[in-house]
Amino acid sequence: MPPPFGMSNQPGEIPEDRTLEISAEVLREWTGKALAYLQAYITSLPSQPMGSARAAKAGDAVAPALAPEAIPRQGMDLDRLLEHLFQRAIPGSFNTASPGYLGYIPGGGILHAALADFIAAAVNRYVGVYVAAPELVALEAQVLLWFAQMTGLPTTARGVLTSGGSMANFTAVVTARTTKLPENFLNGVLYVSDQAHHSLAKAARMAGFPASAVQTIPSDERWCMRLDDLVAAVAGDRAAGRTPFMVVASAGTANTGAVDDLPELARLCAREQLWFHVDAAYGGFFCLTAEGKKALAGMEQADSITMDPHKGLFLPYGTGALLVRDGELLRRAHSSTADYMPAMQETTDPLVQDFCEYGPELSRDFRGLRIWLPLKLHGIAPFIANLEEKLALTRYAADVLRAMENMEILAEPQLSIVAFRLTRKGLSTAATNDLNRRLLARIQAHDRVFLTATSLRGVFALRICVLSFRTHRDRIDETLDLIAREAAAVESLPGP
Ligand SMILES: Cc1ncc(COP(=O)(O)O)c(C=O)c1O
Repeated sequence: MPPPFGMSNQPGEIPEDRTLEISAEVLREWTGKALAYLQAYITSLPSQPMGSARAAKAGDAVAPALAPEAIPRQGMDLDRLLEHLFQRAIPGSFNTASPGYLGYIPGGGILHAALADFIAAAVNRYVGVYVAAPELVALEAQVLLWFAQMTGLPTTARGVLTSGGSMANFTAVVTARTTKLPENFLNGVLYVSDQAHHSLAKAARMAGFPASAVQTIPSDERWCMRLDDLVAAVAGDRAAGRTPFMVVASAGTANTGAVDDLPELARLCAREQLWFHVDAAYGGFFCLTAEGKKALAGMEQADSITMDPHKGLFLPYGTGALLVRDGELLRRAHSSTADYMPAMQETTDPLVQDFCEYGPELSRDFRGLRIWLPLKLHGIAPFIANLEEKLALTRYAADVLRAMENMEILAEPQLSIVAFRLTRKGLSTAATNDLNRRLLARIQAHDRVFLTATSLRGVFALRICVLSFRTHRDRIDETLDLIAREAAAVESLPGP
């Protein structure tokens, strides 16, 4: 006979497990162990290999290093797990934290953010809705307000911190679509240049548009969107009965750092009543410098701006931002209610925001702290100084490259990227591409710097992107020496 209902529910009979509630002492012991590894890791960063050999092989299938394992039944010692991470897993990757990391778009990852994330995860407060953590929400909203002030957006601007530039671009496309198009939006067209980041085409697809909704406008000799082609495309689409609704300008392309003509694009968008989005994921924070401010003039006229603190503010991966000139439009595009949710805030106070109303996420990490903490600790000055240094280092690198024999600059630095290639008289484009592929592989083989390449209208281009806070003149000189040496070596080999 089973016991009468409720009898087995005596509190004492319910099995209790407190394994996961680690004590303060254990936390201290574990963090101490992790910190010991981290100290060794940080101090050895300048001499650590780059993982460049992997990059040289990019495109080849990478042999799987690990087999899938069954879910662990028993726990393991932390020492062994840390050893696995620091001796094997971490070293077996691109060294994106190294001063020699000049590939793709670096940032480096300031350690303040690690401290902030540790605190944020440990206290595990909920910042998706205002009432759950008003002071912490205000702190994150303050960060967004600083960003809006930096870019010159008006006080109506609101924003949301995202996991990165791709999510910010996606949120921008959804906001533009909701604002500018009817519910049946399939007739809408948005415009990007042929240098725009691929996250925009992906954003359009995720926002429900067919591939044909994305019109790609050719770029000019400076890799900037051609305005005459854009004007013609908009007119052509209108004549064909389609509905142009959005133009995406790049404020620093990933390929070459090219900044589109923002003032002209702003004028065109105003005239044509198109949503003007500026993808400043890479270049946005250069607006803090005098030189960058000039290059990015016109950004303040945007309807929305994507910025990536994990690039231009040197934060670790996982921090992007979207700012929208009229914050109410961002909210309208993402607001959603449910019976189990608390009441949302109705106020114009910029520090009072329900973040779940301003983006696709409800529950999420407390991202604001990783930006707020370093900015409060140091003030903005060292961030500006670092950005100025990176601009100067890139100009310097371009000058040295330009002076090298047979070196062609394919994209002069507009911000902190320079694209270049080695040339040889009489070689076809295909053979020159091959020559430069070999040059890149030889540079990477030293494992001291990490460069990546791109294709510029079919031309294989090497690029240097200086944006890690750890990169200084010494590593740039070493990089330029390596390039000169390997260019001479590859030159002396018989032609392909
Ligand atoms: C111009 C630009 N836009 C968007 C992105 C996408 O950003 P994320 O990698 O943070 O998603 C990048 C990334 O490099 C970029 O350079």
